[in-house]
This record gives sequence, structure tokens and C-alpha cells, in this order.
Amino acid sequence: MKALILSGGKGTRLRPITHTGAKQLIPVGNKPILYYGVEAIRDAGITDVGIVVGETEAEIREALGDGSAFGIRTTYIRQDAPLGLAHAVKVSQDFLKQDPFVMYLGDNLILDGITPLVREFERDHPNSQILLAHVANPQEFGVAELDGSRVIRLTEKPKHPRSDLALVGVYMFDPRIFEAVNAIKPSFRNELEITDAIQWLIDHGMEVRCHVITGWWKDTGKLQDMLEANRMVLSRLKRSIRGALGPGTRTEGEVAIGEGTTVENSILRGPLILGERCTIRNSYIGPFTSVYDDVTIQNSEIEHSIVLERCVIQDIPVRIEASLIGKEVRIQRSQLKPTAYRFMVGDSSLVDVL
Ligand code: TTP
Repeated sequence: MKALILSGGKGTRLRPITHTGAKQLIPVGNKPILYYGVEAIRDAGITDVGIVVGETEAEIREALGDGSAFGIRTTYIRQDAPLGLAHAVKVSQDFLKQDPFVMYLGDNLILDGITPLVREFERDHPNSQILLAHVANPQEFGVAELDGSRVIRLTEKPKHPRSDLALVGVYMFDPRIFEAVNAIKPSFRNELEITDAIQWLIDHGMEVRCHVITGWWKDTGKLQDMLEANRMVLSRLKRSIRGALGPGTRTEGEVAIGEGTTVENSILRGPLILGERCTIRNSYIGPFTSVYDDVTIQNSEIEHSIVLERCVIQDIPVRIEASLIGKEVRIQRSQLKPTAYRFMVGDSSLVDVL
């Protein structure tokens, strides 16, 4: 069995972060989302892994390399334009050949892995096995309609969903899927939809099974989902202190502090993770916060947020929360006159002020 991880796409819903980087590499609990998927695939015993890449190919290659660090072997497959999940399958045919495979969306996080699902597929050999989950907002997903345990209809982001069962970003296929992806036509949004390809399998009498997952999963395509994924990963964090806790510092709950990080006169209320070489002074870092390497936080309060590398946050009088702060961002209090807000923010940024 092979695996295909989709790491291309546009990431429009996570702009401006995705103007400058791949969304699959945004760290959750200080580890790129993509690594969780790679590890889940490796843990299921699959080593031959195709990585579908687009414009961010160089970055994804740098993050995964030949795969040996993860115990897998990577093959990079260039998708010239993000023309849909079924298109990604289509361009991967030379790599996948006649092997059954699991397709994993590189921005999805399935906390308990995929091993039982892969075993089930290998044992029963349906043409396809899809993963479903009950959701509160099915109109934002591909939605399945069932007849007993049989999938009878799939609809992409329906206005009037006929069930609350959403497609989770893990699919298993045998080579019949190539007939489907070569037969279907682009949708109104000009993408080859994987839901249409699976519907084609159903309509041509093939066996499409489903498995409703009960464990935690998230499609991290939007800010709130990214923060929620961070929260879930940190809720399993264990205390580990490698940095230096200086005078006046108190830690509560599960706190992980990387090497070379110094904390002075601050309150760290876990679960939270601080990367390496950070400086935290006179500050409060609250629950569900991931701070990446080389960050400085002084005279400020932050919680339930993700802060990427080399940021500086200082002298902010109001607590920062529910934020995703990109690389090398400075958020600071100005002493300049006239007293005013001054911004230099990239395209598609969001600034909420009091
Ligand atoms: P999506 O989140 O559906 O699409 P997107 O990344 O373009 O984001 P947005 O809707 O915010 O613009 O993609 C799911 C995963 O599949 C993600 O990891 C990107 C990847 N993908 C591809 O590799 N090729 C594609 O053609 C598409 C549509 C997605």
C-alpha cells in the first residue's frame, strides 16, 4: 500500500500567512501540521509516500527531505495548478501505479492516527473507503448520504445538507479511482472534485465503504480550526523544562520550555509550549499557546494563540488572544507623537483594535 499526501493548494482562507509560506507547515504545538500526517502514515506501516506539491514545493521538500528522518521514502509530484483533490490523484498516477493507496490531506490532523482504518481497508478490499465525522456545520464540507452503511451520495459543500456526516481528509482507493478521475468534469469552481470521483465509483457499481470516526480530527484550513488543533495537541502535552526559569517566575500545569529560553518575572499557565532561545520577561503566557523559536515577549499577556519564529511582542497593555502571528512580526507599544496606531501589515491581514 502507498500513501499520497496533498501539500499543494492555495490556502486562501489562511491569508496572509499563506502569502509567504505553506499552510501545511504552520506549527501546531510547535510541530508542522504536515508532520502529524506523515507520522500517522508511517505508524500505519506505509513507507512509500507521494507528496503532491504546488508553488510551495521548495519549502515542503526542505521540511520532509527524502523522508528518512521520518522512516518513509518520499516522491515529490508537482501539480502545476491546484485544480482539485481529484486532479491531485490524476497527476499522481505514474507514482501510484496499480497499488491501493491512502490519500491524506496535508492540512488535516487526526489525533489518534489512521492505523485501524488502513487495516480495515486492507482486510476488506473495497474499491474505496472514506472517513466521515458528524459535524455541526456540514454545509462547509463534502457531505455523505448513507443508506444503512452504504454511501449513496456525496455532495461538495451543499447549501441544504441532507446529513451531518462530513468527509474527513483521509480517503482510501484502489486503482479503479483513475477511471473516475479521468471521467469526471470540473465543477462550477473549476476543480476536479474528489466527491464527484467517488460518486462516479458509486454510480458505476463499485463498493464505497465508510467509517465514522469518533476520535478528534480537524481540517486546519481556517484560523479558528488552527487554534482549535493547537488546543487539542497541547491538551496532551507533558511538562518538560529545558530552558531557564528565572526569579519571579511561576509555572502552572503542563509547560514545555525549549533549550536556551529564559523566563523572568512571568506567569506561565499551561498547557503551553515555548520554543528554543526565546526571551520572556514580565509577562503572562496563558493556556493553549504555542510560541516558536527565537521569540521575545516582554510586558505583555497572551493566550490561546500561535506565535511563529522571531516575533517580538512588547509593552502591549491588553491581553492578546485567539491570534495567529506570522514569522518576524513586531507588535509593540509606540512612544511616538502624535499618539496614533501605526501599521505596516501585509495583504489580507486582520488587525482587531480596542
Ligand atoms: P483545501 O483546504 O480544500 O484547499 P486550499 O489549500 O486551496 O485552501 P483554500 O480553500 O483556503 O484556498 O485543500 C486541502 C488540502 O489539499 C491542502 O493540504 C491543500 C491540498 N490541495 C492540493 O494539494 N491540491 C489541490 O488541487 C487542492 C485543491 C488542495
